[in-house]
Amino acid sequence: MWLDPRNPQLNKNGELHHLLSLDGLPADVMRQILDAAESFVGVTQRDVKKVPLLRGKSVFNIFFENSTRTRTTFEIAAKRLSADVINLAIAQSSTSKGESVLDTVANLAAMQADMFVVRHAASGAPYLIAKHVGPDIHVINAGDGRHQHPTQGLLDVFTIRHYKKDFTQLRVAIIGDILHSRVARSQIHALTTLGCPEIRVIGPRTLIPSDIKSLGVQVYEDLREGLKDVDVVSTLRLQNERMKGSLLASGQEFYKYYGITDEALAVAKPDAIVLHPGPMNRGVEIDSSVADGTQSVILPQVSFGIAIRMAVMSIVAGNWRG
Ligand code: CP
Repeated sequence: MWLDPRNPQLNKNGELHHLLSLDGLPADVMRQILDAAESFVGVTQRDVKKVPLLRGKSVFNIFFENSTRTRTTFEIAAKRLSADVINLAIAQSSTSKGESVLDTVANLAAMQADMFVVRHAASGAPYLIAKHVGPDIHVINAGDGRHQHPTQGLLDVFTIRHYKKDFTQLRVAIIGDILHSRVARSQIHALTTLGCPEIRVIGPRTLIPSDIKSLGVQVYEDLREGLKDVDVVSTLRLQNERMKGSLLASGQEFYKYYGITDEALAVAKPDAIVLHPGPMNRGVEIDSSVADGTQSVILPQVSFGIAIRMAVMSIVAGNWRG
């Protein structure tokens, strides 16, 4: 299988073979995934929620980091496509005896795996795996370090499109720990590719990457200034597990200046929607009254995640005829 060396997720026809990153994913491929997901939303609302697009295929979920939403919705999505799903319990696997990631993957490939869904704390791990698997195996990045979380970025833009329709008129704010967030990076690449004209990132200077402006975003340190008249408020989790040194005084201090409360949200447009990828730290990055309020689309994000993951898996497998 020939894959584009500059973008090793695309084959010689520019079709998706792996999904590794939203950076460099062409707009037509991104729209193909969103449009396919639209039809899978219909499937997930039927009495019989199954289609045969991955019948006979084996999907291996290999999560080297914890997950609730991503792992579960990938499993549901694969089952709704009629695939066999194997969830490798990493803590009980032979990685704890020193087996390398590539040896683990080679052994699973020998069990006739067709697709690997990979989460890993190391940025680039899914690329490494994609480089070593056989030509008929597909790799989907389910979050690698602070690098990318492509299906999360896709379900976020799917949610935004659902509620706001047209990206070309939108002002989007992404708030919090941008420095450690793979979700922020994936959202920025997706929104930019789909034509969003104004993306703001808001946070303390210690949690904003110094080169973030090269992605075409505007930087705000003041929450209320940054939220003024935005259509979309995308909050992020503080990634405490990735913080080295004291980048923040405390969660309470962060909440005081950057927590999304009703009062802070009032600065955004009255019909602004609020996203959060989860898991949420209530009272740190978001107040419960906002998380559970009428402008929150946090739970629809989770539901749409199933349709997005069905779309990605059928497209990489070459079984989507939209
Ligand atoms: N949004 C997200 O990646 O959540 P999980 O860590 O629960 O998968």
